[in-house]
Amino acid sequence: MTTADLPASFETDLIGIATEVGDWIKKQQRKLELDDIELKGHNDLVSYVDKTAESMLTERLHELLPAGFLTEEEVTVDTDDELVWVIDPLDGTTNFVHGLPVFSVSIALKYRSEYLAGVVSIPTTEENFSAIKGKGAKLNSKPISVSKNHELKGALIATGFPYHDFGLLDEYLELLKKFILSSRGVRRMGSAAIDLAYTAAGHFDGFYEYGLNEWDVAAGSLILQEAGGTVSSWKNDHQFVSEKSILATNGSIHLESLRLIQSVFD
Ligand code: IPD
Ligand code: CA
Ligand code: CA
Repeated sequence: MTTADLPASFETDLIGIATEVGDWIKKQQRKLELDDIELKGHNDLVSYVDKTAESMLTERLHELLPAGFLTEEEVTVDTDDELVWVIDPLDGTTNFVHGLPVFSVSIALKYRSEYLAGVVSIPTTEENFSAIKGKGAKLNSKPISVSKNHELKGALIATGFPYHDFGLLDEYLELLKKFILSSRGVRRMGSAAIDLAYTAAGHFDGFYEYGLNEWDVAAGSLILQEAGGTVSSWKNDHQFVSEKSILATNGSIHLESLRLIQSVFD
């Protein structure tokens, strides 16, 4: 399977599905009540919105292209399939339940170990980031590219704070201090998919976090790379999913960022 096997309308169809489900999610935000929110683990929230959005997505994506699924809520892994949809139906659940507008729908299509297509859709701002491997990255159908900033000084950096696994909190805070001192500023948006999409679009110059799952980063990492950016693990290899550490940048500040990370996490 290659991108040449995908129908011409594939990217538009994918955006259509993400937008439809995203609009449904947005409507639920006003209706959400305290009783709707469950805890999956410490500070790990979920509601009927995440679960229903996931079912809507799997149904529609199966119609678009039958494949296995790796999804957050059901944690379905169909290892028999070479072709897999990797889905986070609602990335930014904490923001969502607290009434904040920063959340997204993230969908990627993976063939063996390669992402072929990805969409990150932000329903509240109507921003749809998409990419097909080898064909560039887009925001609402217009090409995007990463920033041209060459040094951390002057760079705006995104990260995600640890919120349930605090085993490396001291090291994380030491690293945060280094990024704060070396850059123009650090932001915590609360949706890793948006962090990656905004790095692809040049709003952020880089993004780093550890402990993420594949559904958080699959679509965003493809979009970032197709926008000309670089993504690696904190050991500077390609295994950012299995190593659960990610550094995604415009490319130009990658090594400088990596040096900071490796000065704390060696
Ligand atoms: C979370 C968001 C957040 C990141 C967390 C993720 P969720 O996903 O991407 O930015 O810091 O690590 O788990 O739980 O809202 O889908
Ligand atoms: Ca997520
Ligand atoms: Ca989620």
